[in-house]
Amino acid sequence: MTDEVVFLLNGAPVRITDQPSTRTLLDWLRETQGLTGTKEGCNEGDCGACTVVVTDAEGSRAVNGCILFLPQLNGKAVRTVEGISGPDGQMHPVQAAMVEHHGSQCGFCTPGIVASLAAAHTNGETAFDDVLAGNLCRCTGYAPIIRAAEAAASQPVPDWMQTDRDAVSVLDAAPLPFAPTSSDELADWYAANPDATLIAGATDVGLWVTKMLRDLSPVAFLGACADLKTIREDASGLHVGAMVSLTDLHAAIAPRYPSFAEMLRRFASTQVRNAATIGGNIANGSPIGDSPPALIALGAELHLRKGDSRRTIPLESFFLDYGKQDRDAGEFVEGITIPAQPDRLRCYKLSKRFDQDISAVCGCLSITVENGTVTDAKLAYGGMAGIPKRAAHAEAALVGQPWTEETVRTAMAAYGQDFTPLTDMRASSAYRLETAANMLLRYFHEDQGTLSNVLEVSA
Ligand SMILES: Cc1cc2nc3c(=O)[nH]c(=O)nc-3n(C[C@H](O)[C@H](O)[C@H](O)COP(=O)(O)OP(=O)(O)OC[C@H]3O[C@@H](n4cnc5c(N)ncnc54)[C@H](O)[C@@H]3O)c2cc1C
Ligand code: FES
Ligand code: FES
Repeated sequence: MTDEVVFLLNGAPVRITDQPSTRTLLDWLRETQGLTGTKEGCNEGDCGACTVVVTDAEGSRAVNGCILFLPQLNGKAVRTVEGISGPDGQMHPVQAAMVEHHGSQCGFCTPGIVASLAAAHTNGETAFDDVLAGNLCRCTGYAPIIRAAEAAASQPVPDWMQTDRDAVSVLDAAPLPFAPTSSDELADWYAANPDATLIAGATDVGLWVTKMLRDLSPVAFLGACADLKTIREDASGLHVGAMVSLTDLHAAIAPRYPSFAEMLRRFASTQVRNAATIGGNIANGSPIGDSPPALIALGAELHLRKGDSRRTIPLESFFLDYGKQDRDAGEFVEGITIPAQPDRLRCYKLSKRFDQDISAVCGCLSITVENGTVTDAKLAYGGMAGIPKRAAHAEAALVGQPWTEETVRTAMAAYGQDFTPLTDMRASSAYRLETAANMLLRYFHEDQGTLSNVLEVSA
């Protein structure tokens, strides 16, 4: 093993031995490589000005360079805007179309937009509103940019964008000592270093460095633990490793629980979802994380591991209190299991902005009705308490009762016993309480066939 981080930068190998393990790609590019095409806007994953294309054996994806630490790139390939144009200066089809369609005014967002669109172009993705949800443009407006993206979509992927995937397979990047390659290795290392910071996708942890200026050492990077990246289905349900990205989770969830998938489409942005993991979204213990309410409503189980000892708990019991989870020092999240079940889940993410926003309230409801009577109800919420929490009184008011609007309204009146939400900059306490209860009414009406989502209503 070596401390040398090796990756391809715009097609050429680089070997880094002199940087701290929490040095961000963005800072390194701009301050040591003179590659200033990649911009710094927010330095916290929100604006997309720092977007680069990262390629490994799994494919190419857009990620934010400002919250990506150099060791996360070991054995991979990076293309910045300088390497998205061809080796002889030829423009990428996306760049040519941006010129042709007047997709840039001040130009500050343009390198990030080109990087996002180049990744989408490589992958044949054409849902450009989603592709660009994490790229903020303040002056051009998105219409010309989308026109450029549509025009470029019919052009072939340039050769130089296709070489990285083969090239990384022969890159001589040795494993890093602080990047275990399996959950067994991680278990040994973490048991011996229980005070260490685990870094998965770094979409939370990155901000501890860029915004809070924290020293996180010692750290372990989990990105090389291949066995934590698997998704497996059997008769009992869907087994998802902790290091599965939100992008890959979305793909697995979409055919099974489409409403959950629709909510994940609005989880952060493409760049963040490409890096963020399900393990990180649970382990961070956030009361406003979007996946825990959905997983709790689905009755998910959490698999924890410390050394050789493993335990499985209901996910909802992991969240003890604000900032406090049922996780020992040296214990880590190995994965989750979502039990097989008929899909009765609806997820409602309420935020001020449709895309790339944190939930004010996230309600995920799964209600089983047999012969007109409610036989099971799981009403799980984020943003309503210091932890993701079920509306136990409202659930009790539903179960055993006829599935009618009267029952629903009785249950809505019980929400005040379940929650005393905070007032903060996202929403007032009263607004949260009212909207959370209204989500139950919405669920009922949707279940009766009334469309309530503006995206589902068409003339
Ligand atoms: C711009 C932006 C937008 C965002 N929008 C949303 C959003 O809409 N909804 C939402 O829910 N979140 C959002 N987030 C938060 C973040 O993306 C998620 O919480 C994400 O899932 C974290 O995963 P990660 O892999 O990046 O975790 P990391 O940042 O690597 O780690 C997060 C925490 O979990 C710990 N950890 C990670 N993996 C494990 C493990 N296997 N075992 C034990 N501990 C572990 C880390 O030590 C750390 O404490 C956003 C973040 C950004 C930057
Ligand atoms: S600088 Fe804004 S997302 Fe990275
Ligand atoms: S062109 Fe100015 S921010 Fe997009």
